Amino acid sequence: MTSFPLDALRGRFPSLATQDGGRRRIYLDNPAGTQVPKSVADVIGDAILNRNANLGGEFATSRAAGTIVEAAHGAMADFLGCDSDEVVIGANMTTLTYHFSRMIGRGLKPGDEIIVTQMDHEGNVSPWLQLADDLGLVIRKLPFSTATWQVEPAALKAAITDRTKVVALNYASNLTGSINDASKLVAIARARGVLTYVDAVQFAPHGLVDVRALDCDFLVCSAYKFFGPHLGILYGRRAVLDMLDPYKCRCSDNGLPQRFETGTPQIELLAGLTAAVDHFAWLGGACGEGGSRREKIATAYAHSIAHENALCGDLVEGLLQVDGLTIHGISDKARFSARVPTVSFTLSDIAPAELVRALNEEGIFCWAGHNYAWEVVHQLGIDPDKGVVRIGIASYNMGSEIAETVEAVQRNVRMLRQG
Ligand SMILES: Cc1ncc(COP(=O)(O)O)c(C=O)c1O
Repeated sequence: MTSFPLDALRGRFPSLATQDGGRRRIYLDNPAGTQVPKSVADVIGDAILNRNANLGGEFATSRAAGTIVEAAHGAMADFLGCDSDEVVIGANMTTLTYHFSRMIGRGLKPGDEIIVTQMDHEGNVSPWLQLADDLGLVIRKLPFSTATWQVEPAALKAAITDRTKVVALNYASNLTGSINDASKLVAIARARGVLTYVDAVQFAPHGLVDVRALDCDFLVCSAYKFFGPHLGILYGRRAVLDMLDPYKCRCSDNGLPQRFETGTPQIELLAGLTAAVDHFAWLGGACGEGGSRREKIATAYAHSIAHENALCGDLVEGLLQVDGLTIHGISDKARFSARVPTVSFTLSDIAPAELVRALNEEGIFCWAGHNYAWEVVHQLGIDPDKGVVRIGIASYNMGSEIAETVEAVQRNVRMLRQG
């Protein structure tokens, strides 16, 4: 494998060089949102300055806006491995999930069942809980195993009944970082005729999504987690989309996917979305591989995963040297293929917010809290008001940043313990 072109990659992100009063920044808040390449920011600026119009007109700016929208669907089709009319773009994952859960709910009856997991972010739990309240549905909650940190296929099999209509599940957790065996879970649900709704928000920045191989009915992700603008994207299997009765204005376009994209799209951000996908293709090319855009995206992931896992190994190793520190997730390097490089931990005697405040003051950006992994903290018995310290690596992070962070964690824990 060619070496990872880290310097060239970092050079594409102006914010990585931004300083605060002469001090460098270390961005480890990536699970909450990544930085963006200049190419993404540039096209957003150009679109709103030079190609700004509503859709459907016979004049230059309107035609150009139409091209932006079409290109973004094509880019996401390459990113997810589907057709562009199966790509629905919206405000964010949570809004899309509220919207689609309501449309799915139009076909459900009181007593029908929905399975959610305790590994999921609230964006894939609350919409289903509230739908169940509205329609008199039954919710079944699947815990994750704290041995594997995954949802066990056997547990899903046991939870499905003849009334189960939807399984909402997580591809990768935004707290523990673990990756579910999503294909296996989807296959179990599909064998019983149950719709599958997969949250890939935390997986997509770190691994190639292939909705056809996964065989899921729906999959959602968020572009601002993978170097793009603040948008959410939903894949829907065409046959399933065709069965849904859309909530839409009666005079609006009934085409696919337009009937699911209510109102005027965020056109300038859609320009940035294409550029974010092209950023992955750039990385694949810089790793020395050619091919189609999808092939280059796959190459980019193959290289970035190796880089990220090496950094994750150093981070986990350094953290485990701290007495009284518990990592909530996989720490065995041999099992790193079952995790993304998002590492959460608690300390026996120091509140997450205290340590995170000290790290933030040193220009190390990371988060304390439950991070909306509300079910996860409850299953783990963690006080949701305190939550965890979460450090999340992205492909642009470098070894020296991880070494500095580990040193800062170790030193600050010592200082906080000394009072
Ligand atoms: C796993 C996961 N799912 C869903 C969401 C919600 O995404 P959005 O902000 O696009 O609604 C997040 C956000 O952090 C997440 O990490």
